[in-house]
Amino acid sequence: MYKTHTCGELRLSHCDQTVVLAGWVNVRRDHGGLIFLDLRDRFGITQVVVDADRHPDAHAIASQARSEFVLKVAGTVRERPDGSANPAFATGEVELAAREVAILNRSETPPFYISDEADETDETLRLQYRYLDLRRPRMLRNLRLRHAIISDIRAYLAERDFIEVETPHLLKSTPEGARDFVVPSRLQQGSFYALPQSPQQLKQLLMVAGLDRYFQIARCFRDEDLRADRQPEFTQLDLEMSFVEPEDIRSLMEPLLIQLAQDHQACRIQETPFPVLTYRECMDRFGTDRPDLRFGVELFDATAILQESEFKVFSGTVARGGVVKGVVHPGGAGQSRREIDRLTELARQGGARGLAWLGLEHDVTDASDIGDGTFRSPIARHLDPRELAGLVAAGGARAGDMILLVADDEQVAAASLHLLRGDIGSTAGLIDPDLFAFCWVTDFPLLELDAEAGRWTAVHHPFTSARDQDWDRLEDDPGSVLAKAYDVVLNGWEIGGGSIRIHDQVRQQQLFRALSLPDEEIQREFGHLLKAFRYGAPPHGGIAMGLDRIVALWAGASNIRDVIAFPKTATGSDLLFDCPAPIDSEQLLELGIDMTV
Ligand code: AMO
Repeated sequence: MYKTHTCGELRLSHCDQTVVLAGWVNVRRDHGGLIFLDLRDRFGITQVVVDADRHPDAHAIASQARSEFVLKVAGTVRERPDGSANPAFATGEVELAAREVAILNRSETPPFYISDEADETDETLRLQYRYLDLRRPRMLRNLRLRHAIISDIRAYLAERDFIEVETPHLLKSTPEGARDFVVPSRLQQGSFYALPQSPQQLKQLLMVAGLDRYFQIARCFRDEDLRADRQPEFTQLDLEMSFVEPEDIRSLMEPLLIQLAQDHQACRIQETPFPVLTYRECMDRFGTDRPDLRFGVELFDATAILQESEFKVFSGTVARGGVVKGVVHPGGAGQSRREIDRLTELARQGGARGLAWLGLEHDVTDASDIGDGTFRSPIARHLDPRELAGLVAAGGARAGDMILLVADDEQVAAASLHLLRGDIGSTAGLIDPDLFAFCWVTDFPLLELDAEAGRWTAVHHPFTSARDQDWDRLEDDPGSVLAKAYDVVLNGWEIGGGSIRIHDQVRQQQLFRALSLPDEEIQREFGHLLKAFRYGAPPHGGIAMGLDRIVALWAGASNIRDVIAFPKTATGSDLLFDCPAPIDSEQLLELGIDMTV
């Protein structure tokens, strides 16, 4: 009744056919006797022409139509007159000569234009009117891409004998290092469910159940501070397999990622097989465990060069157990004071107390090349020529480059230099936007020291296995134990992570003890899992891919909000529903909750 074709469908081959279209008025142009309407639906845009002389009734109705009115138009398809074809639209060679126009619904004037230029519009407004925002071609394209990627993932895994299983949202805490969102129970007042941070324990239980190969497009909930690549609820491609080692998981995921990149992205993949880097190597070379490998600019270590320096900022830091590390900004020697202040501020964001810089004016091969005009730098005169020549060599700096140095604890130096490296990559134009640089990161530490709490915590999650050869050191030297864990990184974003799990209850207890968890807490939180491990748990492992991040990278979006239909703001609000919101006192009473705020 409403339509015979979509607004993206008509071509020259449809000429002379009588058709009916339904859609929204994208643009209306009134030329007196002729009204032109661009009619839009999800599939495209078709030009409609309404002629006052030939169809006065249709013309009278069309003259009332405004942007975003919903219309039904019946008429005949015809070739557009000479010179008026519009190659911007797939339907641009034809138009619909309207015989009947019906207004199916009216629209208020929308708060912003439904066009890709609305990107300029305040995002708050776009989120308040998300249903209008999603009418825009770019947002629609993102939702389509998301659907296509998920469909392909399902097909790929189904072909390989995976079974998709849904797992509960109302559950008990499944820790992944964030805070839980909790849901109060009415039937058991005073008790709470926790929304899962991931289906981690459930997929392990499915392995105990003998499922062998499980996956799920799973919704996860984490109460953590939000960033461009983080939402409080997000979606994972979650999967788990029995009888596998890390290489099996990698050789399942890598072809999938390559296929998704080839089928849905114009970007060239930098290197296959994906390079495999250890955590240590990543931290040393890039200051982060999610390196952007699209460009070089690697960090260098100047600790040994400067440990004896007269300049106490450096030697004092080394004496206290710190490091001096640096990065070279190619062609950056001539930067203004203001630019250097900006870089210093960036280093401070990583925790550094300051930033030392040396602009190199001439090439240096050894200490004898160094004279008064060699460096533009407030610190060069505090360093002796041997140290300066050592720095130039360690950084591989050439005339015109800028050496940036951070002296601090190893972690602070890494974090600051990682930020600087990223900034250099983009400001120096070193990043090819059409490149996908994947890598695997392996050999993470199993545990990290929580200095505040004075105890060890799991880097990944507490179900991750140590490497076989490292279990013996868990009690005596927990910091040296490496995990059978792996992340997959793309262009500086962590797009997935997983591990081989502990499948043995004795080992699992051993790990919980290393985390200094009291026995009753272990029983309360994880008793169900330990019990399951008593009934023949197979060796197993898996991975979870951040789907929102993948779609955002594929779509060229800088924030995952752009690929989520109804996302939250940075403060966790949904602006369309205006929540979180207070609930009424009756509901609270039913739940047995007394508000103190
Ligand atoms: P992990 O915590 O590393 O592992 O999460 C897996 C992937 O999920 C994505 N991700 C997020 N995306 C958007 N918003 C967030 N707040 C967010 N947090 C994580 C990332 C990340 O790489 N159960 C384990 C997986 C396993 O061991 O199999 C887990 O959830 O892309």
